[in-house]
Amino acid sequence: MRRPVVAGNWKMNLLQSEAEDLVKQLIDQKELTRNVDIVLAPPFTALAIVRKLVHGSGIQLAGQNIYFESNGAWTGEISAAMLRDSGCKYVILGHSERRSYFHEDDVLINKKIKAALNDELHVIFCVGETLEQREQNETREIVESQLKFGLEGLATSDLEKLIIAYEPVWAIGTGKNATPEQAQEVHHFIRAFLETTFGKSTAESIRIQYGGSVNQGNSKSLMAQKDIDGALVGSASLNAESFIGIINSTA
Ligand code: 13P
Repeated sequence: MRRPVVAGNWKMNLLQSEAEDLVKQLIDQKELTRNVDIVLAPPFTALAIVRKLVHGSGIQLAGQNIYFESNGAWTGEISAAMLRDSGCKYVILGHSERRSYFHEDDVLINKKIKAALNDELHVIFCVGETLEQREQNETREIVESQLKFGLEGLATSDLEKLIIAYEPVWAIGTGKNATPEQAQEVHHFIRAFLETTFGKSTAESIRIQYGGSVNQGNSKSLMAQKDIDGALVGSASLNAESFIGIINSTA
């Protein structure tokens, strides 16, 4: 049985005082982490305050990016060890906003994944096709190649520290989520790829989140799908009521 995991990717939102307000409302809900793993990915500037607030609550922290080098002259970058040092268990890698706006390719993402695992960080690895690719019937091909290159060189045991997030690019921030059937189809495909590459028990134990316009209204039917093990939530994670609603519908 895979334990569901709901993560809030705050992206470039929330000042420290706003983060504090939001997290206080979340930790007021005492039973929130009973049946679901909860991960918050604040901007780097809010990690310290959020870390302090979630202490003892069971809520875990994620960073939104790392560089693959461990230290040195890389102005503006953050290492895996720095995220660990800031209290993070996870890092989000391969997000489509990093792929498109910051030109991160599969080779770079693979280096970052290896650097994260090497420093004991768990990884939320995002994959997903654009609208154009879906319309050209290329969804499987694109997702397969992102998985293949992103996970290249990883050992089966590394997969224990991995969560895959299927985030169709056309569903991110658009209010247009994939239908439960569309999402389930790709999640099933991802699990089948993992089975072929890493074996049945790894494929059965790995958690695959759906991300892209998840909200309180659509989360229950998405989470009810056999191969959907949680959500990677963007804008709806910035509001306590809607994020709690999504968590409860997942549990
Ligand atoms: P939205 O939930 O705002 O569509 O964002 C999804 C996402 O990109 C999470 O990483």
